[in-house]
Amino acid sequence: MTTIPAVPADTIDTETDYLAAVAAARTAADAYYGSGESGMDDDAYDRLLRGITAWEAENPDAVADDSPTREVAAGVTTGDVPHAVRMLSLGNVFSPEQLTDWAASLQRRIGGRDVAGWVVEPKLDGVALAARYRDGRLVQLVTRGDGSTGEDVSHAIGHIIGLPLELAEPVTVEIRGEVLMTSAQFTAANAARVAHGGQPFANRRNASSGSLRAKDRAYQVEQTFIAYDALTDPAHTSNPELADLTHIDLINWLHTIGIGTTVGSRITALACHTLDEVQARIDRIGAIRPDLDIELDGAVIKANTPADRADAGTGSRRPHWATAYKFPADKKITVLRGIEWNVGRTGVIAPRGILEPVEVGGTTITYATLHNPDDILRKDLHLGDRVYVLRAGEVIPRVEGAIVSQRTGDEQPIVFPDDCPRCGAAIDKSEVRWRCVRGRACGQVAGLKYAVSRDCLDVDGLGEAVIVQLVERGLVSEVADLFTVTRDQLMSLDRMGDKSADNLMAAIEAAKAQPLNRVFCALGIRKTGRSLSLRIAAHFGSMEAIQAADAAAFEAVEGIGADKAAVIVEGVAELSDVIKKLQAAGVNMTQPGFVAPGTAAEDAGEAAEGGLPLAGMAVVVTGGMSGPLADYSRTQMTELVTRAGGKYSGSVSAKTSLVVAGEKAGSKLTKAENLGVTVMDPGSFAELVAAYLD
Ligand code: IVH
Repeated sequence: MTTIPAVPADTIDTETDYLAAVAAARTAADAYYGSGESGMDDDAYDRLLRGITAWEAENPDAVADDSPTREVAAGVTTGDVPHAVRMLSLGNVFSPEQLTDWAASLQRRIGGRDVAGWVVEPKLDGVALAARYRDGRLVQLVTRGDGSTGEDVSHAIGHIIGLPLELAEPVTVEIRGEVLMTSAQFTAANAARVAHGGQPFANRRNASSGSLRAKDRAYQVEQTFIAYDALTDPAHTSNPELADLTHIDLINWLHTIGIGTTVGSRITALACHTLDEVQARIDRIGAIRPDLDIELDGAVIKANTPADRADAGTGSRRPHWATAYKFPADKKITVLRGIEWNVGRTGVIAPRGILEPVEVGGTTITYATLHNPDDILRKDLHLGDRVYVLRAGEVIPRVEGAIVSQRTGDEQPIVFPDDCPRCGAAIDKSEVRWRCVRGRACGQVAGLKYAVSRDCLDVDGLGEAVIVQLVERGLVSEVADLFTVTRDQLMSLDRMGDKSADNLMAAIEAAKAQPLNRVFCALGIRKTGRSLSLRIAAHFGSMEAIQAADAAAFEAVEGIGADKAAVIVEGVAELSDVIKKLQAAGVNMTQPGFVAPGTAAEDAGEAAEGGLPLAGMAVVVTGGMSGPLADYSRTQMTELVTRAGGKYSGSVSAKTSLVVAGEKAGSKLTKAENLGVTVMDPGSFAELVAAYLD
């Protein structure tokens, strides 16, 4: 197992911390350039290197011999094929300001004159490769290695799209670029590897590097090459004209002789005249990035003309005429903590990974999609695995793969459900996407069960068996349909007698009078439960007002933030037909006791509030209720507290006025006692609010 030390802070203060940071960077780099699995994500590695560079700038005499800043590819040697011209690395900038500073430094290097022109290209996130053509035939492939010598990977010849065996011109030239995998190539590479008894790759770059370097393998996988350079000096090519080409012309020429380039794509290398144009192009590439089939980690800005390049020169590790503009990382490493099995509207059962929270691209991510059970098996994921999570644009984050080399042995296999996690019916596993055998009816049964439960419409006698029959016979598909079911239809159900049908008809009729909070709760809108439904109903007073409310209006309700508000507005809008049907069936759409804000009635209400037994009190209910409250569900308790002028709260704090503690009350009671909050048993509480009992 490769152990990667924890990532140090961005700033390094002491020499000890510096040496630890150098050791951490080397370990990560060795793993990254060596085994292809670094265990540290790019963002963490970049931050580490920035810390090291900053410390070295202030302590130039104490720079460690093995500092990763001294070498290309952090000095990792992986081969013995010399590069005629060193394969260089690139400097980095991270903001428009840093880009402007870098451009100014380039201008100074070329004697203060304006740079004749720029080119902006995507920074391809793959593996650097030199492809040597002799008289137009592909003869050798060499990795970057430490920049001076690389590894011969010619066994991959013929398996890389963009590196034809023969060029359109019989030219001798070394072409440099990036080997990477499209998402389809990545899937195919993992499938081939697993089929041959191997572990799937954790991410695409590892897959590229690993596949390229695996020599004696029974199978080869397809990859893609995109060129960004060639050795144009007449000493290294049979075409002396290359030396005079601008970069953009060189890339176009490579395209015409059959080499893979970005030409013709949305991210084609583009000539720019001004820095504003450069920045606009960088922003454009950043915006397109989530939609691409290949991975980018930035843009590369290059001086376009050979003259500017020659004057700018090259440092020991990087050219002065080019730099990388890094985009915020969209891929991070975190731990897969659990799996949830969610059943969609059509009965599709989709696994979702629960992650150790991690910040990716400015958002904290706690969940990631895992697509389907096959996806989990293909990636050989285990609970406790360190995994790469990817968040591209607005797309839902997904788990790309596990870092198998970092397993500790404590990881647990993922348990797949045998029955539908929502309704308990069998699962149809014949397709890649598992489905509850009840299909759409699964969601309907679950939704209806919820709608008629004690906390919602509280329809006595409408159990699962009846609901399943109603759904399966097409009599009911959502909550509003319940109110149009006829007695005859009920009588047609299995094991339904006259008395049961009458009772059920009466219970459904009674449910029409439920207060708005319960009717709203019964709609099953995401993010709303019984207590939030109560707060929403108490705030708006009528379904009409709820339907008229926008997200900002919902945010005025306690406990609703911007995210929830948006989801609720959407949910209410989606259900407008159902609400209309409920209304038409005579279901109550108002909250009893509601007083519209700013009305005379409200003033009167405020004056009267003083007389309510729980006026201004925050009340918590815990443990089992007894006496007159024995049958009260938590929803009913919430309603009771609200009716009596109090505010129902779920947790005890110094602001709590009263705790109603019943049988087996636990930590809430202890907390109340510690805080000196008044505690009452259910019997005394019932007396206090006797006038407001149901
Ligand atoms: S130019 C002397 N252009 O990024 C020229 N490199 O972090 C040096 N890379 O080693 C490279 N896309 O493997 C160049 N459009 C691009 C690139 C690119 C990706 C890689 C390349 C390089 C690394 C530096």
